[in-house]
Amino acid sequence: MKIDFHSHILPGIDDGSRDIEESVELLDYMADDHVDIVAATPHYYCGECSVDHFIERRNDAYERLKPHLKPHHPKIILGAEVLYNHVLVGNEQLSKLCLQGTDFVMLEMPYRQLTEDIIDDVEKIYTRLDVKLLIAHIERYLHFTSYKELAQLMGLNVLGQINAKSLMKFSTRRNCLKLIKDGYVHVMGTDYHRRDSGHALIGEGYEILAGKCGKDLIRYIEENGRDILENRDVEDIG
Ligand SMILES: [Fe+2]
Repeated sequence: MKIDFHSHILPGIDDGSRDIEESVELLDYMADDHVDIVAATPHYYCGECSVDHFIERRNDAYERLKPHLKPHHPKIILGAEVLYNHVLVGNEQLSKLCLQGTDFVMLEMPYRQLTEDIIDDVEKIYTRLDVKLLIAHIERYLHFTSYKELAQLMGLNVLGQINAKSLMKFSTRRNCLKLIKDGYVHVMGTDYHRRDSGHALIGEGYEILAGKCGKDLIRYIEENGRDILENRDVEDIG
């Protein structure tokens, strides 16, 4: 089962799809790529609006899109890409932002060096609250922090997602392959924003990974995806 865990396909809610027409177009691309399930994960910035207001806007965007969905489109599950903030520690509102049907929250790390304090906060988030964490596009943070610091974060009881697009360029692909080898990558996403933003689809990512690492890795990624949707415990995944 092909699952895209990270996308901005809902219309007019963040810097992703601008309108229904564009959302349908992105879903058409995903259908052509034989994606079965796509997680709609609009950005959530806790300083900008309340969790309840965000959920209201997200659900409203989905309801507006719904009548335009076609039978061949992937099934959409609702979630969020939550930007880390110290105030999230112990904030029970966070559990409302879980990926539909699970206790998994997709957490986006800040685009700066990962400090001990930030890493400690991440650990506190999942130990104090009833949530499990999937860290978004883990390869991207290597532009801002060392591999050692990222490895410290990913050594926590969390799961990791990479973007298919990062497998297309030599330098970012090299980082992804190292993260995979070290066991920090569990699932993939497109992080698709807009029709003209040149994102790679899951199938393109699979092709590169199968060529570099073998088809067992694809089976591993798909199995992890199913396990997340079945809300298995983090320690039982991967
Ligand atoms: Fe994203």
